[in-house]
Amino acid sequence: MALIDSFGRKITYLRVSVTDRCNLKCFYCRVGDDRMVVESQELLTFEELTRVIRIFSELGIEKIRITGGEPLLRKNVMTLIRDLAKLPGISEVSLSTNALLLERFAHDLAHAGLRRVNISLDSLKPETFARITRGGQVDGVLRGIKAAVTAGLHPVKVNMVVMRGVNDDEIPDMVAFARDHGLILRFIETMPIGEAGLQADVNHMPAAEILAKVQSSLGRGEELVAESGGVGNGPANYFGHLPSGTAIGIISAKSRNFCASCNRMRISSRGALVFCLGSSGQTDLKGSLRSGISDAELRALIVRSVQLKPSGHMFQNEEQEGLGHWMSRLGG
Ligand code: 5AD
Repeated sequence: MALIDSFGRKITYLRVSVTDRCNLKCFYCRVGDDRMVVESQELLTFEELTRVIRIFSELGIEKIRITGGEPLLRKNVMTLIRDLAKLPGISEVSLSTNALLLERFAHDLAHAGLRRVNISLDSLKPETFARITRGGQVDGVLRGIKAAVTAGLHPVKVNMVVMRGVNDDEIPDMVAFARDHGLILRFIETMPIGEAGLQADVNHMPAAEILAKVQSSLGRGEELVAESGGVGNGPANYFGHLPSGTAIGIISAKSRNFCASCNRMRISSRGALVFCLGSSGQTDLKGSLRSGISDAELRALIVRSVQLKPSGHMFQNEEQEGLGHWMSRLGG
């Protein structure tokens, strides 16, 4: 069984947001207060999630990513991960996290069957990190990264949202950090998603410029070896690796979109099935689940929803900017 959308794309990857709460408040992702946070009864329960994901896996989804908010704030998320990792069709369960709780949980996560983590790290400087995250401490993240490496959640990917005048001066330091710790590094262009994303997009730095900054920071004999194809599930077109092996990628959602090879669907923290991060269509799964939908009906609803996936995002369309979606509910 395979899920094929109306543009012939095979959907094999599902991203699942399990909470929209976060212990950091990155200004490009969310507003400063908790007005966006949903009540816990609005979240899908683990039983509901496991049921939906089992059906997705029967339809051809192979890989699951748990996101948030900060997914490790969801109580007992480990049990969800363990149950998902056991589903026959699922080859990989991974997690996107800010790493603050990894020092505590990395070992148990690996034990529960988690394969890998993607970690957000936008600055190595305590002041800049605190500014971007509205008060966060970078030390805890650095300890979390070490814990992930030690626990064997390999390869550990670090994601940096690059913003002009905010953290673009740290591109060389991040490259050195990734090399020294054996990490995969991805630079992410800001995306105009939600009120916060729209504001941050003022500092947008396009991929070509990020790449130029990476190249000019490299020493002799350290040239990037260009790579096509990718490492992982996603859209980063890996633009190269260093002789040390450090892979460096860029997620250029806006300047050079990768919609034609999109293979994913998303479940929001509120239980909506979201077709595309960059346009507003969605199906209400929670309502259907709570009004007693059968497995067969649920399967049909998913198949129909996949047909509604648009050909591409709307970031370039001014009228669509500041899309209804919020990163804090969708987890990137
Ligand atoms: N633009 C780009 N990426 C974003 N993320 C959240 N908000 C945005 C935005 N406006 C992504 C980043 C970050 C993760 C938590 O979510 O990848 O590392």
